[in-house]
Order: sequence, then structure tokens, then C-alpha cells
Amino acid sequence: MATKISFLNLKGGVGKTSLLVNVASCLAYMGKRVLVVDFDAQSNSSIWLMRLDRWNALNRNPENFILNVFKENGSSLRNCIQKDVVRDSDGEIALKGLDLAPASFNLMDLEHEVPDPWEKPFYAHFYEELKEVESGYDFIFFDCPPSFSHAAQCAVFGSDHIIVPANPDALSIVGFHLLIDKLESFKRQSLRWRSEIQSPDPQVMGISINAVKPGANIDIPLERFNAQVERFASQNKVPETACIFPEQIHHSVTVGRAVLQGLPMVLMSKREASMKVAEDYIRTTQRILSLSAHQPDERPAEAESSLLN
Ligand SMILES: Nc1ncnc2c1ncn2[C@@H]1O[C@H](COP(=O)(O)OP(=O)(O)OP(=O)(O)O)[C@@H](O)[C@H]1O
Ligand SMILES: [Mg+2]
Repeated sequence: MATKISFLNLKGGVGKTSLLVNVASCLAYMGKRVLVVDFDAQSNSSIWLMRLDRWNALNRNPENFILNVFKENGSSLRNCIQKDVVRDSDGEIALKGLDLAPASFNLMDLEHEVPDPWEKPFYAHFYEELKEVESGYDFIFFDCPPSFSHAAQCAVFGSDHIIVPANPDALSIVGFHLLIDKLESFKRQSLRWRSEIQSPDPQVMGISINAVKPGANIDIPLERFNAQVERFASQNKVPETACIFPEQIHHSVTVGRAVLQGLPMVLMSKREASMKVAEDYIRTTQRILSLSAHQPDERPAEAESSLLN
């Protein structure tokens, strides 16, 4: 069974997609089988992993995208998966084991335009599709929009864990509170379907602090996040094990450069990636592996040294 994780924060631009793409790639590099499901109509993880030219080409047939899974007479999730999606400029596989269920801008239609033909919510329908493919993966990651839309609900309903990427600032702390409230109400609202089709009860695994500027003192935001996590744990809204990951992701222009090159950090040239941020993603991946009870294998050390030398 795959470990299924949503990368979710109702606040936009905090690093959800960057964290997801880079952790998914580190895991694939370590030999894990990973599926990324892009549930954000902005399609950022799809464009990053496929590069714009291949994603544009895919747009000639809208049936290739995740929205089609929700349409009457649409396709199955299995059929919309792009295998070994990270390629070099000759189209050769650059990273084995990383598959993608891509999004396009048409995913916005899921919010208002697509009729619901199954007499069940979109999230329950999606979970049944997910069950058909999950045995092929060690990890399934959902890239979420900065909202609690139908698409985000599909991701959360299918997840064992939620990782909350956040920036070390006051607004992110407010956003975390709002997120926990929304999660609670969605869990109540979806309870009937959860028990009927035995989907997981998604739990917050932790907060990953992103884009920490050199020399910035983030003690106060960290203290406030910690206080909130402790309070939510005492109210049973997050598990006792929920934490702020000690491995923070540093601010680095390389992250934006990796998007332009259509590469995850783990595949950037050593010179480009020999910065702290590549190491941050590898360490965060190891944290996620240990918290989701998958044991790190031999390749992380290799990956780490090849990036850091
Ligand atoms: N560690 C980092 N250092 C510098 N820039 C970063 C870092 N992480 C992300 N960014 C940049 O911040 C911007 C937002 O990142 P990203 O798209 O990952 O956020 P998001 O939470 O997925 O956004 P959205 O809510 O729109 O989906 C991007 O331009 C990205 O390149
Ligand atoms: Mg994003």
C-alpha cells in the first residue's frame, strides 16, 4: 500500500509545489516508486515535471488530464498517468520511478462546471480510482491548490498524512489555524463516506518551514507554530507526533532556476545544486520517510554525497 500525502496550506506561494516536486524526486532517486497527482489548476507541478513543451503538447487532448477522471464516460486515473515523467531534452528518462497524473487549467471546471454523475461526492469517486493504482507505488503525493476546493478535498480524503509547507511569518501562522479548522469540518462532513469506503483518516504529519533567508531570526514564528501545534495536539486535532520539521528549507534562487530547467533539485548540475537548499530537501525527505515508517535505504547517502561534493 502506498503512503499517501497531501501538501496543503490555504495560503498561496508558501512552497507546496516546490517541496512536493523535490521530495518526490529525492524518493524516486532513492529507488521508491512515486506518483504525483496534480490537484491544482495552476498545473505548476505538471509543468515543472514535464517542462512546458511536453505539457503544451499534452494539452492538444484534454482527456489526458486529471479532470477527465471526474467526467461521465471519462477516463480512469490509471489511463491518465504519465510514466517516468522526468525526461532529458532528448526525451530519455532522466529519473526512473516518478509518475504524474497531470493537471491542466481545465481542472478549474471541477469547482462549478462538471456534473456529478455518481451520486457520491467527487472525493469518494476519486478514492475508488486511487485504490485501483495505489499498489503500484510506495508514495502518492497530492499537490493542492491554496484553497479547500473540490480538488483539494479529493486530495485530503485520499491521504494518510498532510504536510503543511509554510513560511516563517505571522500570516502563515494564521493560515495554519484556518487549515486545521477546515480539516476538522471536512472530516465531519465526509465521515459517512470515510466509513463506507474505508478511506484513511488524514493526519497532519508536520509543518515544513520554507524559504528561510540567510541570517533571518525566525525564533518567534517557530515558537508560535510550536505553541499552536501543542494546543491542537491537546485538542486531538493533530496527532502527538505532529511537529515542525527540524530541517528547514533555505531561501535560494536555485529553486526558481530548477523550474525553468524543468528539473528537480536532485538532478540539477552539481555546481547549481551544491547549495544548502539541495541538502535541505534531502534531509526533509529523510524526515518524511522516517515519519511515514518507510525505512531509508542505501541511496540517500549516495544522493546526498553526489549533491554535496
Ligand atoms: N526555498 C525557496 N527559495 C526561494 N524561492 C522559493 C523557495 N521555495 C519556493 N520558492 C519560490 O516561491 C514561489 C512559490 O513557490 P511554490 O509554487 O512552490 O508555492 P506554492 O505554495 O505551491 O504556491 P501556490 O499556492 O500558488 O500553489 C515560486 O516562485 C518558487 O520558485
Ligand atoms: Mg503550488
